[in-house]
Formats: sequence, C-alpha cells, structure tokens
Amino acid sequence: MTTSASAALKNWPFTEFLAAGEGLGLTDPPVVDGPVGPTVVRDGRTLANFASINFLNLQERDDVRQHFLGGITRYGLTTGGSRMTQGICRPHLEMERELCRITGKERAISFASGLLANLGFVHAMTHHMNLGQGWEIDNQDAVFVLDRDAHWSLWKAVENLTYGRQLFAFRHNDPADLGRILGTLEGKKTVVVFESVYSADGTVAPIGELLDLCEQHQALSYVDDANGFLLYGGENRPFAAEFDALRRADFVMVSFSKAVGLEGGAIAGPADPLLAFELLSGTSMFTAAMQPPTASTATHIMRLLRTDPSIVDSYLRRVAVFRERLAEMGYPPHPTPSYIISVPAGDDTLAVELKEAFLAHGYLVPVFFYPAVPRNKPLLRLILNAGHTEEQLDGFLHTFAALGDKLGLGSGRPPR
Ligand SMILES: Cc1ncc(COP(=O)(O)O)c(C=O)c1O
Repeated sequence: MTTSASAALKNWPFTEFLAAGEGLGLTDPPVVDGPVGPTVVRDGRTLANFASINFLNLQERDDVRQHFLGGITRYGLTTGGSRMTQGICRPHLEMERELCRITGKERAISFASGLLANLGFVHAMTHHMNLGQGWEIDNQDAVFVLDRDAHWSLWKAVENLTYGRQLFAFRHNDPADLGRILGTLEGKKTVVVFESVYSADGTVAPIGELLDLCEQHQALSYVDDANGFLLYGGENRPFAAEFDALRRADFVMVSFSKAVGLEGGAIAGPADPLLAFELLSGTSMFTAAMQPPTASTATHIMRLLRTDPSIVDSYLRRVAVFRERLAEMGYPPHPTPSYIISVPAGDDTLAVELKEAFLAHGYLVPVFFYPAVPRNKPLLRLILNAGHTEEQLDGFLHTFAALGDKLGLGSGRPPR
C-alpha cells in the first residue's frame, strides 16, 4: 500500500536522477572490511589503496592503539552532551591547548569534524543573535572573500550571503585578484578565507602574500589548514616560508582526519571570539563532539609528530621520489610538490576506463570528476600511504605505464 509520505516523494525526482546516472558512477558503496590503510579489503578483495586520507597510517602504531584504549577507560566513550551544559571534557581541553601551542594562538574550540568547524565559523561571524537583557551581537554586516577553489564546506557555509554584496571570490591562489577585491571593500568588516593545501590538485596557497594583503586592508584571515596541518613549515620541510607565515593568520582551522588520521576538527585564534564561538557557532552546542578517546589520541599524535619529526620527514621524502618517478614516466603530476599528487587523466570517458582498469589490477585509485575539478578535466588524485611497501609503489607505477599506453593517455615510459 502506498503511504501518503511515499506518494509525496514523487515530487522529488530521485528515481529519475538515479536512472539517468546509471553506469556513470553512483552505486551502492562497496563494503569495506578491516582497517583502511595502505590496503583496503573491498567486497572481499584486497586492493592497494591510493585513496585514504589517514596517510601516515598511525593507527597501526602500538602506542597509538594503547593510548586510544586507555582513553576509553579514563574517559568513557562519549561526551554525553554539550560542553555548554555539562562542561568541557578534559581530553578536549588538552587537545585544544596542544593545538594552541602548535598554532601560536590564544584559544581553540573543537568540533565533531572539520566541516562543522567551517560551518560554525561562518555562522558565528555573520549572524545576529539577541539573547535578551541587552546581550546581543550583530555580525550581519560581515563580508566574506573566498578563494574560488575553497572546499565545499566553506562554500556551503556562505551560501546565504548575497554575492557581490556580502560575498566575493578571488581567483585561485591569486594575490593580485584578492588585492583588487579588498581595494573595493575598504572600511568593511571583511574576512578572507582560503586553504593552505587544496585537496583536489594539491596546490599550496601563497599564504604569506595573502596574509600581507589582509593586514594591509585590515581584513581578518581564516585559513583552512585541514590538509597541511602538522606537515609543513620549519627548516627542513617544503613550503617553509608559506607555513611559517600561517602563524600570522587570525584564525586557523584544522582537521584531525588527515595527518592525525582520526576524526574531528578545530579552530584556533584570538581568545574572545573563540570563547564566543562556544555559543555562536551553533555547530559546537547543537551537535555531538569528538569522542573523548579520539580527542585524547589526537593530542597524543600531535605530540608524537612534534617530538619525532622523522615520521613526516620520511613520508614526504617517499612522496618526492614517487613524484619524480611519475614525471620521468611522462605523467608529470601537478608541479606543486605537495603530498597530494594529482595527475591529468585525459577526458571523462578515458578516466572511467583507467579507474576500472586499475581496480581490475588490484589498485584503488580515486579519480576526481566535475564538480571537484573543471568539467571533462578529470584528475587521478593519488595519496601515498606511509604503510605502502616499495612493491606496492612499483606495482602501481608499472601498471600505470601499461594502462596509460594501452588506453592512449600519452607517451608513457616504464618506471625506473
Ligand atoms: C580543505 C578541507 N576543509 C575541510 C574539510 C573537512 O574536514 P573533515 O573531514 O574533518 O570534516 C576537508 C576534508 O575533506 C578539506 O579537504
């Protein structure tokens, strides 16, 4: 029998949408068994995994696992509710303090995910809230300027702002374009938003130049460092100048799902706004937080990466060699030498064939299509995992050479 609810569903054309997209990519997701890391077991098949974002594979370490298990005993499994009503759990407090130490900021606030941090930040910075008895804040006159390639969560967060009045976009990583826009916004309450490392193609922002412009035009800066957190900056790492400049950003947002390899997100910045965000972000108070053992383990991992830089150093060295080998084969990745390795994959049809062929050979290789990248300009988006064996990397490169040749991706050469 058709219920009235399901009868009404006919007004939403999901069935037609699925039918039109048949064969183009949306299916029931394959089922993953066991941990996700350098390999993944999907629908019973073990694949070498070039897709996972927990790329340092720290969940395999004994100290990390023991710390997590100890966290369950010490703190239990849940925060049990909002920090505004019950108080902040100790592991969250310690994690936020550690983040302040790393970023050089006064105060931090954590969220269940980086996405919620981004939504909460924009909400707090753009809303009018009247809590009675003269307790009121009005940020509706705020203006946001985003890098055009900013993450979905940032564009989602600003979608209610009127473009051209409260919202502007500058060309990707283009200080001149940002300067032009900021020149038209003198005297406004402006926030400039960009990422450190962009997740589709691995480009890195000219952080120092963008922050210079913010300072020059008295705009606040919010840098989404989800992808760069704990990897760069300091003398021996790539992008030292860019990431040392990051300390000048007013607000830094991080995700714990990438280098840290857990889940959760946070914003660090000046004390007063950060305290106000407890109330004004909404995405702290009205939803669940990171689980306490996760927060505690995030602190453990942040300290681990600080005290043992060789973990990141050796990962980045392997990435650099892998990039060189790809380039020698005639498949040069995007020239920005970040750990996110993107390689042009022909057109959409070719890219689908390539992805399937990689799967058939035992490699899970993500391909980014529109809207993650411009239409019909698909990218292989490769992330090396610290746990990959040399055999897995060699195997991937030989398979790429053979498939590229067969499918006509260009004049590939076998890897060295
Ligand atoms: C630039 C950027 N911002 C935010 C996020 C969201 O982070 P999280 O996975 O912690 O929600 C991501 C993750 O894809 C990202 O790449």
